[in-house]
Amino acid sequence: MRVQLDGEVDIAGFRAQARQLLAAGVRPELVQWTTSAQTSDLFAQDCASQAPAVIDAHCGLPQAVAPLPRVPAAFIELCESVVLHSDPQRFALMYQLLWRLAHEPGLRHDPLDEDMLRAQQMAKAVRHDIHKMRAFVRFREVPDDAAPGGVRHVAWFEPMHHIVQANAPWFMRRFTQMNWVLLTPRCCAAWDGSKLTFRPGASREEAPAADAGEQHWLTYYRSIFNPARLKLAMMQKEMPRKYWHNLPEASLISSLAAQAMARAGGMIDEAPTQPVRKVSRLARPARPAIPLIIESPDELKQATQNCRDCPIGATATQAVNGDGPQRAKLMFVGEQPGDQEDLAGRAFVGPAGHLFQRALERLGIRRDEIFVTNAVRHFKFELRGKRRIHKTPTQAEAAACLHWLEREIQWVQPHALVALGATASRSLLGRSVAVMSERGRWHTSPGGLPVMVTVHPSALLRMDPHLQPAAFEQFVADLALATALASPPGLHLVG
Ligand code: URA
Repeated sequence: MRVQLDGEVDIAGFRAQARQLLAAGVRPELVQWTTSAQTSDLFAQDCASQAPAVIDAHCGLPQAVAPLPRVPAAFIELCESVVLHSDPQRFALMYQLLWRLAHEPGLRHDPLDEDMLRAQQMAKAVRHDIHKMRAFVRFREVPDDAAPGGVRHVAWFEPMHHIVQANAPWFMRRFTQMNWVLLTPRCCAAWDGSKLTFRPGASREEAPAADAGEQHWLTYYRSIFNPARLKLAMMQKEMPRKYWHNLPEASLISSLAAQAMARAGGMIDEAPTQPVRKVSRLARPARPAIPLIIESPDELKQATQNCRDCPIGATATQAVNGDGPQRAKLMFVGEQPGDQEDLAGRAFVGPAGHLFQRALERLGIRRDEIFVTNAVRHFKFELRGKRRIHKTPTQAEAAACLHWLEREIQWVQPHALVALGATASRSLLGRSVAVMSERGRWHTSPGGLPVMVTVHPSALLRMDPHLQPAAFEQFVADLALATALASPPGLHLVG
């Protein structure tokens, strides 16, 4: 008996048919499951409509809906993953398991059953594919006057399994502000800012060629590739070769890996970064009374320069306050200045700053229209040999510094704040914040301002390079949400 389902991922059709077959006592070995994609000319079309499936005319089963036997909730969940697998036998396996669950009560307690193990392996492969798609999709920009910012983002990806429909809502939530199209050989998904749509597969030729942003990305990838941390086997495990041909950065890996030993040696021999003469060692005037409300950045500079409310100030080169226009609608708060910020006297000018800048560029935000500052004014470090290694400020140190940040907020009067990482989040919200679970949402500061929590760009830099692109996209998505509230489309970020 042949049963035809309507599309590769027709779980509703499978359930309806399986119910009837079970009710009619049809044994699994008598059923041949096919999908409309397998019988049509269209090559494996995932995106067929989800209309109910039909049983072959000659099977002659009653069409009334029969109740499904009671099965564990975990089995339903398992089927929802297995149905996405590309193995043509998946429906037969699921029906076989359903039949056995109905006729062999002991099956649900047998952890070593072969059919069950096979289904679990298929579900695992599907989850893996979903995860890799999230990590390895690379959007390219295509001009489109109808899209926000005049740009549509288009990506080409080749999943192993039928996961596009199941995975698209994740991309929709992550990239809500963008118009995007995900092209794959069997099914394409598109988001226009309000509606998620699917259409049959595309060919690779329909995908756009490399854009200018890609060169930017390759340059960045080259610069953050740390030869001293290269673990080739681990890298290939996380980023299997089968995905490389669609990853622009993969073209760099062989040459970067070949140069890794020599570059790591060079890093060891390199001269140390030289801190400039310490301002803090100069004779300091007695601390003047600090006005509660500061009138200008210069006034804040003078006041913070001599701050010894905590021990960090004594070893830093100088205090680093924020910069940006008064009345900037959006204020970004990092942790503390790093090595380069300490030398330059400006926040976010080092490697984390470059990454932050890239995220701003993606959103079309100029640095001079936002205010960028830190929760802590001075660079806390530990000398390791010749290097000044960043040390996280303690809660007490950040708390001692909070009044400077509050004065700065009073001066800027932003509409909303973005906390980059845990230290800034704690300072702005007055409580410990689990950044990964609280990110991408609005919270309210004790002073009543909206605060968006997200990761610190340095956390992205510390990740394995092949996980960074997806993490970067999430970071951009968080910033996009923040921008949308602080400055709705068409309004300026300042004023
Ligand atoms: N990290 C921060 O939190 N702030 C900076 O200014 C630089 C790096």
